[in-house]
Amino acid sequence: MSLFVKKPLGQLLAQAADSEKGLKRTLGAGNLIALGIGAIIGAGLFVRTAAAAGQAAGPGVTLSFIVAAVGCAFAGLCYAEFASMIPIAGSAYAYSYVTMGELVAWIIGWALIMEYALGAATVSIAWSEYLNKLLGGAIPYEWCHSPFESFTDSTGVLHSGIMNAPALVILLLLTLLLIKGTQESAFVNAIIVFIKVAIVLLFIALGWQYIKPENHTPYLIPEGTPAVVDQGGKVIAEYTGFFKHGWGGILGGAAIVFFAFIGFDAVSTAAQEAKNPKRDMPIGILGSLLVCTILYILFGHVLTGVANWKDFVDPEKGREASVAYAISQYMTDYGWLATAVTVAILAGFSSVILVMLMGQSRIFYTMSNDGLIPKAFGELHPKFKTPYKANWILFVFVGLFAAFVPGHVAGDLTSFGTLFAFVLVSAGVWILRKKEPNIERPFKTPLVPIVPILGIVICAGMIVALDAQTLKVALAWMALGLVVYFAYSRRHSKLKKN
Ligand code: ALA
Repeated sequence: MSLFVKKPLGQLLAQAADSEKGLKRTLGAGNLIALGIGAIIGAGLFVRTAAAAGQAAGPGVTLSFIVAAVGCAFAGLCYAEFASMIPIAGSAYAYSYVTMGELVAWIIGWALIMEYALGAATVSIAWSEYLNKLLGGAIPYEWCHSPFESFTDSTGVLHSGIMNAPALVILLLLTLLLIKGTQESAFVNAIIVFIKVAIVLLFIALGWQYIKPENHTPYLIPEGTPAVVDQGGKVIAEYTGFFKHGWGGILGGAAIVFFAFIGFDAVSTAAQEAKNPKRDMPIGILGSLLVCTILYILFGHVLTGVANWKDFVDPEKGREASVAYAISQYMTDYGWLATAVTVAILAGFSSVILVMLMGQSRIFYTMSNDGLIPKAFGELHPKFKTPYKANWILFVFVGLFAAFVPGHVAGDLTSFGTLFAFVLVSAGVWILRKKEPNIERPFKTPLVPIVPILGIVICAGMIVALDAQTLKVALAWMALGLVVYFAYSRRHSKLKKN
């Protein structure tokens, strides 16, 4: 039978409507926006804003945020059409099953594992770093780094990582919360979102008066800016390449801060738990994207106004923990805010991990219902009605990455998986408009096919801009996915059996 067999849309809609047997519909529009913000604001804002300013965009990082947001908005508009039309838990995977057939759906489901599972692993590794910072470095290096990391301290002693234990602990706690229930998880998420948005707003409001106009001039990194070298003469930043200064640097900065937007699509994985998905899905997806974009631009403006962007490349200054650095160095009346920011960052990272784990378990749930992965992934807890077995399997899988793989490797793979999904979702909207023009679409992506085409072009461009090593590992992962499909999934597909 064809590899491109498509799931009939009617069957999918019936499956989504069957909330008796399945996931409970408990989430309203406010919960969904909070879920989106929960997944979006995290390491990207608190770590990568300064990195983008220091390495490519200077104070123009605000413009980088706008470029990345526009790219995400095209994909977001496409997600909104699908999520309101097919409110089922599988997100991009489920949409491709209807539009492009089983093989493409499988490929996208496999890529989504990179986005959500590795996204959770990446942020849990960042969580571990910040926890150690808060504890004043009390956790021995060996127990908070992967075996692939090492460093020589000032006395010449070589430290090598064994495993990242704090990352495992936070993953375990959040897995337990997720198994307890979607509503409970949404409640904890809402509290965390409140805390992290409050801290971001506080930083913007208090920092505004410390902005020095000279830090914003010139606004883009000028051509001919000399490279920055460390004590040993090693170059740690240089500004000669096209994506490293001027307007090109704004694009380079956009690729760096793209990570900060990952997560708005996670709202779509909760479509089957939304009370009124037709109305609330577009509100949740586009609303959280809009709120975060505004916050990011203001945050970038204040951060690069309070401290000079050059501080963010200097290891002796604000290269690490940039926000806490800017506050303690320049906003001296508000020293307490530096600690509060670190606590809020820890809370913020937790909610990113929570929503990523939730999204992944929902995708497993849908794939398992389709027979493409074993039944255990789709079994709901008798009392809590959550896919608890999927949650446990996921904990083991994500835990292995979090404990033993360096953060930047997992982070770049996360971007690949996300961008790949964005490309296929954009293509899917266009295809379904042609093939099924008459289905009811509660939300319609405007200007089809222009918006989907722009989504495809921008996201494919960002994939090409990822480094060669990341692309190789990502392709190897995708090849492994094909082996699994032909060895297992194809033979167990329920659609084919029927
Ligand atoms: N957008 C999420 C973050 O920045 C993944 O942590």
